[in-house]
Amino acid sequence: ADPELQLVARRIRSFPDFPIPGVLFRDISPVLKDPTSFRASISLLANHLKKAHGGRIDYIAGLDSRGFLFGPSLAQELGLGCILIRKRGKLPGPTVCTSYALEYGKAELEIQRDALEPGQKVVVVDDLLATGGTMCAACELLGQLQAEVLECVSLVELTSLKGREKLGAVPFFSLLQYE
Ligand code: PRP
Ligand code: MG
Repeated sequence: ADPELQLVARRIRSFPDFPIPGVLFRDISPVLKDPTSFRASISLLANHLKKAHGGRIDYIAGLDSRGFLFGPSLAQELGLGCILIRKRGKLPGPTVCTSYALEYGKAELEIQRDALEPGQKVVVVDDLLATGGTMCAACELLGQLQAEVLECVSLVELTSLKGREKLGAVPFFSLLQYE
C-alpha cells in the first residue's frame, strides 16, 4: 500500500464503547501528535483535490470541531482560504442554521450568511464520516448560501454506516475506510 497512507493509518487509534456502548471510536489525535503523519494526511487530501478539481476550488469549509484540525492546513496546502461551519450559537452576525441527527445525539450547524457568494465552489473537510448526518447538514447549509459543493472529504470513513449514500450526488473521498 501507499507508504504515505500507511503513515496516517498507523496513527488512528480505536476505542471500543466510546462515547456510548456499541460505538467503536476512531481517534485521530495521534495523527496530530506526529508531524510526519499529519503532513501526510494533508498532502494526500490536497493531492486528491488537485487531481479531481484542479484550480476550480474557491474555499475549503471546515466542520466544527474536529474538521477545524484539518481545514486550515488543507486550505493552505492548496493556496486557499478556509471558512468555518460551526455548532449553533458560536457565530456572530446574520447566519443560517440547520439541525441534524448524529451517530450519537443531535446537533445544529450554522454558517455566516456572508461566508460565501452564490456560485462559489467549496470542498468540505471533516475528520470522519459516520452516518453522514454532519456532512449532509454542512452541504445543506452551503446550499442555502447557493454555494456549490464540489466534494466532501475526510480522513476516516466508517463504511458500514453508509454515510456516503446519504450524501447522494455529492462526491465523497476518504483516506481510510473501516467497517
Ligand atoms: C464527529 C466527527 C464528525 C461526525 C461524524 O463529530 O468529528 O464530525 O461526528 O458523524 P456523522 O457522520 O454520523 O454525522 P462530533 O459531532 O462528535 O463532534 P466534534 O467534531 O465537535 O468532536
Ligand atoms: Mg465532528
